[in-house]
Amino acid sequence: MCGIVGAVAQRNIVPVLIEGLRRLEYRGYDSCGVAVLAGGEPHRARSVARVADLDEQVRETHLEGFTGIAHTRWATHGAPVTNNAHPIFSRNALALVHNGIIENYESLRDMLRGKGYEFVSQTDTEVIAHLIHSLYRGDLFAAVREAVQQLHGAYAIAVEHKDQPDTVVGARQGSPLVVGLGEGENFLASDALALAGSTEHFIFLEEGDVCELTLERVRVADRDGNDVEREVRTVAAYGGAVELGPYRHFMQKEIFEQPRAIGDTIPQADSFDASLFGDAAATAFGEIDNLLILACGTSYYSGLTAKYWLESIAKIPTQVEIASEYRYRDSVPNPKSLVVVISQSGETADTLAALKHAQSLGHKHTLSICNVGTSAMVRLTELSFLTHAGREIGVASTKAFTTQLVALFVLAATLGKLRGHVDASLEAQYVRQLRHLPAALNSVLALEPQIIAWSEDFSRKENALFLGRGLHYPIALEGALKLKEISYIHAEAYPAGELKHGPLALVTEAMPVVTVAPNDTLLEKLKSNMQEVRARGGELYVFADSDTRIVSEEGLHVIRMPEHYGLLSPILHVVPLQLLAYHTACSRGTDVDKPRNLAKSVTVE
Ligand code: AGP
Repeated sequence: MCGIVGAVAQRNIVPVLIEGLRRLEYRGYDSCGVAVLAGGEPHRARSVARVADLDEQVRETHLEGFTGIAHTRWATHGAPVTNNAHPIFSRNALALVHNGIIENYESLRDMLRGKGYEFVSQTDTEVIAHLIHSLYRGDLFAAVREAVQQLHGAYAIAVEHKDQPDTVVGARQGSPLVVGLGEGENFLASDALALAGSTEHFIFLEEGDVCELTLERVRVADRDGNDVEREVRTVAAYGGAVELGPYRHFMQKEIFEQPRAIGDTIPQADSFDASLFGDAAATAFGEIDNLLILACGTSYYSGLTAKYWLESIAKIPTQVEIASEYRYRDSVPNPKSLVVVISQSGETADTLAALKHAQSLGHKHTLSICNVGTSAMVRLTELSFLTHAGREIGVASTKAFTTQLVALFVLAATLGKLRGHVDASLEAQYVRQLRHLPAALNSVLALEPQIIAWSEDFSRKENALFLGRGLHYPIALEGALKLKEISYIHAEAYPAGELKHGPLALVTEAMPVVTVAPNDTLLEKLKSNMQEVRARGGELYVFADSDTRIVSEEGLHVIRMPEHYGLLSPILHVVPLQLLAYHTACSRGTDVDKPRNLAKSVTVE
């Protein structure tokens, strides 16, 4: 999704801006641009191709300057054409980049047209540029502060004005923005990652903040206009480029990193203690009697899986809701709820908004399960548990998902122990099973050649059904999501028992039906559902635990999972589904790491 980089320095800053955009590329974008102040006016280059093309343009045109802003755009208002690419200019005096959506842009546009401003793009962003220009009286910081009072919606912006050649001003509300502190130079970015290599010292701006960067100084004002000192945090972890190594795509690399990522996420201690979730967790966990889990996409599916664990291990009622639905629904708040938000990025706009909505309704106890320790979500919640997936580049979530599952299992076991449902011997058994997971995952990854053989068949299909039951229904949902997002094959998942209530009508010889078949208490029921498919000519592709006695025959293809893994089985069963989606997408020749229309971190609603 959209990315921002900005800088004020005493050297040509364009290479730093371009490198920043490169680091944000994996998030998904459809156009990009850069603008510098030079010779008393703004100059820009924009492209609807990749950042590499923009780089070529700036080299050919010798675009150089000491003050600049840059952007990768993921189109919301207006098609991905050059004219809509940022930076957006106002009267050739001011340049601006924007992440987010301005909801009242139509009324602002009418007002600004009345003042003689001409609109040349279809973006909502152009109103911000003209609005700030209309309020500029020689002080950009003051003009931005005044302008943001009139904006409704979400924004992170960076602005420069020709009359203040050593200044960049930023503001945020609902979209992230960080200041990077250098020696005699300062930076701005939507993600600290963009500034790796330039600085390790960051200010994570808070909601409503406006900042002014000059060579020697960074000034921050809060939403009420008061100058404030924000904490400077040192984050070294962003350094270094992520290498692809022997893999074809980052998604494949990330699938194969799962044993390591899971090993790093499993707590060191041999017991489940509330302190794993933060100092205040023991008190908070003692005050709750239910959980409300809020998340989007794959993270929502990890929440759905956790519901089974939380209710069966900890016997605690758990509700799981899609964040974008919860935030706009009239719900009944329960002060005894633990609100759990799950997110890889910790910046997903819908999940953040749902969290704030839950807090505004009076929910006191909140927990984030997140892969980014410096994210807004972690900063906003009372408790947190960090997954250690490492940087995930592929848009399709893989290692983020399985590490979330580990975190949620630990949460279920911890609450189960506190509530007297997990005794010492069960605790030791869970710890043993967790510790063995990386080795078990390696055996699953060794199934890749068999899955590649299946993917040849799948690549010629246009539809697929995924079936699972109980704990593995969310895994079927995740398998279908993976297949559709990277191979563009239409895929749907159902709890297998639901098939006869409608979707069975879709089953013909042309419909592959992927089935997740662990050896659990629902196996015999699942086998009956598989018979229903075979009876209609449907072709079954089954991932079956080795002890299920499901064997290949006409119309029934079986890959045997190496181990039966009980309650933790979803963490193993999702891996072949990731590999199936990955290799099918490769056979179809899609852009696996950057699938069409999608972004890694969805920072607009
Ligand atoms: C999964 O493959 C997707 N890329 C998407 O569904 C993702 O999980 C969702 O946007 C939530 O992201 P988050 O975990 O960063 O909040």
